[in-house]
Amino acid sequence: MTVCLDVRAERERVARAFRPGQPLPDFGYSSEEDALWSRVFATLRGMHEHFSCVRYQLAAQRVELPTGRVPQLREVSRTLRSLTGFELAPAMGAVPGPLFYAPLAEGILTSTPDLRPVTEQLFSPDPDVIHELVGHGVMLADPEFAQLYRWFGRAAVHAASDEVRTAISRLFWFTMEVGLVIERGHPRACGAAILSSVAEMESFVDAELRDFRVEDVIASDIDDSICQPVLFVADSVSQMTDDVKRFLATSVDW
Ligand SMILES: [Fe+2]
Repeated sequence: MTVCLDVRAERERVARAFRPGQPLPDFGYSSEEDALWSRVFATLRGMHEHFSCVRYQLAAQRVELPTGRVPQLREVSRTLRSLTGFELAPAMGAVPGPLFYAPLAEGILTSTPDLRPVTEQLFSPDPDVIHELVGHGVMLADPEFAQLYRWFGRAAVHAASDEVRTAISRLFWFTMEVGLVIERGHPRACGAAILSSVAEMESFVDAELRDFRVEDVIASDIDDSICQPVLFVADSVSQMTDDVKRFLATSVDW
């Protein structure tokens, strides 16, 4: 696929020109990019039926992402605002910690409008619009998960040391990005990085699955450049969210 460099450059120009409080701009996508979205999203949707948690499936029904074209951040943001009060804000590529968590505390997910190259259609080490919308965007339509995202943001903003910030980042990674929960006796994905990657969903059942314990999670390194060899599985969504909230509530001075 030859995504015109002009398309990406224009997308970056539009994202950089955005200022908080402004209406979200629309981004241009080529017909090849629309086709890539359609292909990857169709494959992911088929896998979600078997490998995603029930809350994700219910949230996906509420968001109703389009199947035939790349959605605009503006459209999904409007839907989320009406469901859970969350909004999206454009930012190109991966956003460094403080610039990611501070908006999160205010109910804003910084989201890249860029799309993965076709060579990375099964697994993209960098966030892209599939990751942002199919992964995070859908989970943010669930009120409990939306609240948890806000908690992560507020805790990171109030963290008093690098040690606590690292612990929060690791906890975010192993829950909101690559989290698993047991449902009907099997691990099911609730993390955005798994839910937005065909390769991750194919391979997580073969990963080393460890019981979800916060003290083990925050002692574990992150490598987001590969499919995850080690994952943590909570007994249920409520076990995971309760344990995360307990840690966040006690680890920072609110
Ligand atoms: Fe993410």
